[in-house]
Amino acid sequence: MKTVHGGRLSLLLGACIIASTSVAQEGDAERGEAASATCVACHQANGGGMNISGGESWPRLAGLNSNYIAKQLHDFKAGDRQNATMVTFANMLDDQQIADVAAYYSQLPATPGQGGDNADEALLARGEQLAERGDWNAYIVSCKSCHGPGGQGVGETFPGIAGQHAGYISAQLNAWKSDTRSNDPQNLMGAIAKRMSEEDIQAVSAWYATQPAAEGEAAQ
Ligand code: HEC
Ligand code: HEC
Repeated sequence: MKTVHGGRLSLLLGACIIASTSVAQEGDAERGEAASATCVACHQANGGGMNISGGESWPRLAGLNSNYIAKQLHDFKAGDRQNATMVTFANMLDDQQIADVAAYYSQLPATPGQGGDNADEALLARGEQLAERGDWNAYIVSCKSCHGPGGQGVGETFPGIAGQHAGYISAQLNAWKSDTRSNDPQNLMGAIAKRMSEEDIQAVSAWYATQPAAEGEAAQ
């Protein structure tokens, strides 16, 4: 009896050691809250960001996948994703602090998207079409095929875009269209954004802003 349990125990201990090492590398939400002090001016204390029409919108970070957040911060630091505002703040963080702020923001409850409320029905209908079904005539595959049904996100690779601010979504699509954002490995977004008209961009941005964001586990 004892020997059987002993064998299981050492297996269990081995598993615990592996688990605890990966936790140490993963980031700590409490430390992340402290490290986020410089972020609140734009991303807000609740991580909800802000839609600024005609200006540089600040994305909601609350509830986004932690590995996605960390990847973006590393990309800003490495110059793979260019944004004059964010490079300054990303550069203030070391690898551990990046993991910590990512853990912190990912566990905050998602807040509603802004900037889609004034869109008319026709624009929202076009947005829903692009998001959920795509437009075969324009060679645009549905956003859902990568970002998941309702734009809720799929793992760490395909971020949740439902409930993100319209101004931020359209700014990103325009950045891909003009090659000023090109940090996804196969530049999947570049190929898609280049096929979208300005009206398509407004439509899909407004529609996603009006959709509920994924909550908790679904976002991870
Ligand atoms: C002065 C305003 C400002 C401050 C302060 C700021 N950010 Fe940002 N942040 C932005 C803007 C603007 C963008 C969008 C950049 C773009 O368009 O590429 C952004 C984008 C991001 C993104 C990418 C989100 C996504 O969905 O891809 C992350 C992650 C992020 N910020 C984290 C942080 C963290 C962590 C801090 C604090 C250490 C911080 N930011 C401080 C303005 C700010
Ligand atoms: C073939 C897969 C694919 C399709 C289809 C796709 N996307 Fe993406 N999208 C991605 C990937 C991958 C990323 C993450 C890029 C990165 O790592 O920086 C992304 C990121 C984004 C982001 C940035 C989110 C953020 O938080 O910064 C937005 C906005 C976006 N996509 C909108 C759309 C819209 C709108 C559509 C439909 C018109 C769409 N995507 C279709 C793969 C796709």
